[in-house]
Amino acid sequence: MTAPKLSKPLHIAIVMDGNGRWASKRFLPRIAGHKQGVDTLKKIVHACPPRGVTALTVFAFSSENWNRPTDEVTGLMDILALAIAREVPNLRKEGVQIRFLGERANLSLRVKKGLEEAEAATVSNTSLILNVCFNYGGRWDIASAAARLAANGTEITEESLSNELALTHCGDPDLIIRTGNEKRLSNFLLWQAAYAELYFTDLLWPDFDESALDAALHEFASRQRRFGKTPDQVADRSAKTVERQAPC
Ligand code: FPP
Repeated sequence: MTAPKLSKPLHIAIVMDGNGRWASKRFLPRIAGHKQGVDTLKKIVHACPPRGVTALTVFAFSSENWNRPTDEVTGLMDILALAIAREVPNLRKEGVQIRFLGERANLSLRVKKGLEEAEAATVSNTSLILNVCFNYGGRWDIASAAARLAANGTEITEESLSNELALTHCGDPDLIIRTGNEKRLSNFLLWQAAYAELYFTDLLWPDFDESALDAALHEFASRQRRFGKTPDQVADRSAKTVERQAPC
């Protein structure tokens, strides 16, 4: 399948689910699935710029993942530290800007330092923004943004809150993909998902590849995004709309 020609730059977000099942099917420890998941992520990062994708946001560790067995949590921290050490020089060469979204306070010093160094090393890159949500939760994002606005005495509006969220530098995702045959958001980008197109695949994350990405992009290209308008209004760009009423 060839990649579709996209009319606009695209922001894709992915819930990379199914690493554990991929490993269990092979009688391997779950952490082997997460390691394979990093290789898949590398492939997908590489595949984004030629397809017109300018931002990729991935869910690598949720606020709730601390509830997993200790060895899996430690393993995921180690994988992150190792992936940063190994991959940042390549990301730098490929023009990828990496950013980490999530609560850093309860991460180890080693991990925190890794995140800061990776961000600093890639800050001026522009071919793709890669947002890695690590120790991230959509509710945490909204609650902490609201708390900062309240502490500053700023009025909480859709605009002020939106500007305070972790993903404000990229805007909302156009397409959210979830692998692993589960159909839920699991506290990922709750605010920003408002108008995203959702795409679910049975493929486990380590089995996801460029052709699976193309299948998602083809499906996305066939969808009509209406943002509250009627199909006719969307088809006729010149159609008049009423000024939005002020809320009463
Ligand atoms: C969900 O699969 C996946 C995760 C909780 C971790 C995702 C992490 C990676 C893809 C690699 C890490 C990447 C970085 C940058 C650190 P699951 O474990 O819930 O799978 P299951 O549903 O089959 O059990």
